[in-house]
Amino acid sequence: MAKAQIRYVCQACGDSFSKWQGQCTACGGWNSLIEEVAANVTPFSAKQRASSGGARVHLSDLRNSQAPPPRLITGIAEFDRALGGGLVPGSAVLIGGDPGIGKSTLLLQAAAALARRDERVVYISGEEAADQIRLRAVRLGLQDSAVSLGSATSLRDIITTLEQSPPPSMLVIDSIQTIYADQLESAPGTVAQVRLCAQELIRYAKASGAAVMLVGHVTKDGQIAGPRVLEHMVDAVLYFEGERGHAFRILRSVKNRFGGTDEIGVFEMADKGLIEVSNPSALFLSAREKAVSGSVVFAGVEGTRPVLVEVQALVARVNSGATPRRAVVGWDGGRLAMVLAVLEARCGLGFGAHEVYLNIAGGLRISEPAADLAIAAALVSALTDTPLGHDCVVFGEMALSGQIRPVGHTALRLKEASKLGFERALVPVSANLGNADVTLAQFKDLSSFVDSLTGKR
Ligand code: TYD
Ligand code: MG
Repeated sequence: MAKAQIRYVCQACGDSFSKWQGQCTACGGWNSLIEEVAANVTPFSAKQRASSGGARVHLSDLRNSQAPPPRLITGIAEFDRALGGGLVPGSAVLIGGDPGIGKSTLLLQAAAALARRDERVVYISGEEAADQIRLRAVRLGLQDSAVSLGSATSLRDIITTLEQSPPPSMLVIDSIQTIYADQLESAPGTVAQVRLCAQELIRYAKASGAAVMLVGHVTKDGQIAGPRVLEHMVDAVLYFEGERGHAFRILRSVKNRFGGTDEIGVFEMADKGLIEVSNPSALFLSAREKAVSGSVVFAGVEGTRPVLVEVQALVARVNSGATPRRAVVGWDGGRLAMVLAVLEARCGLGFGAHEVYLNIAGGLRISEPAADLAIAAALVSALTDTPLGHDCVVFGEMALSGQIRPVGHTALRLKEASKLGFERALVPVSANLGNADVTLAQFKDLSSFVDSLTGKR
């Protein structure tokens, strides 16, 4: 038998090298290379011509497709929504998130909810013993649910067990980093192990029709293979996010072969588990009593759902010659620099001698460019100490030229604002405004917007 080949695989990007090195030349990550034994495979072409020996692939007609099997609805509406309307039988879903954020809690609640609907659910944990999961279930008030629990880490044992009974509707693997395949010598959690185990479980999902949910930890230092390598393999990727210190958790869909992405489900972590939050706008508008400068309500859209959220800015003058700080929570730092630069270049507002702090209330992360105008409004309001008014929402995208561009879902944003009692909206000039009951002020460019905020016009 040929000697097993050793290679060094980057745990961050999956590239492999013949020698160890401190930095991965492919992705630039440091200390991310781990020794792995290459699987012994004979190249296909060395043995035979490509046209001989293969089995015939069954080709079917696209037009002749049958109706897909119905989705599995758990009844936890925020969970079903993030999945694009429930679980698809035979699909593989990856749920990523920091340790301790609540992935196991969420999946146990979802598993119990499905079991209550008379679906068979198997929950395999590689991290906790069955007794520990039972304790959690008691705490969540789910001890009567007919979920089959297993505590295992060997892929061979798991697949053997599953193949001895009819396939479940849903299979939870918590987490993929703890599962190992005994064909490989690398430790559980390495790229090779994670990839092989996931492949095998996805194959099981497709063959049996079970919906497989894989939990994946994300670590900052890249010691354990992040679920990045898995993202290409699975049908849907959800991230469970939240700020430490906040009780709110957001289940965000970043890839979905069966539905829209950017859809979010909102939960609150309470002492009896995760509670659905069906009206997130009310939640992200922190207790606002009177209008203060630097606080602006952004009318955003997450997936298909409007979400109103408060943007807070603080601008403080510094006297020392040091570079002033810019700190941002919940938004992109690069985009903040851009908004500051445009305010300076197009409207003559100087932030150079000021520290700037920006915060999105409630622990939400916003990635929509439509927030530009709300951020600009918060910054201008903080700099000039002019409150924007209590009853006002803002949205719009900004160009480097200082032009304000219309954004999608205008009518939806305005409708939500009116529903929550807002009376005014500062928006881009746009054709489809809907017919919500709010007074509109429309702007073409940033300087007229700033003039109107500061009362120059
Ligand atoms: P867990 O689901 O174990 O996180 P993960 O699987 O993502 O690592 O959640 C752990 C945290 O959730 C822990 O810090 C305690 C908290 N928690 C509650 O606040 N309430 C609850 O009812 C439960 C079960 C957990
Ligand atoms: Mg867990």
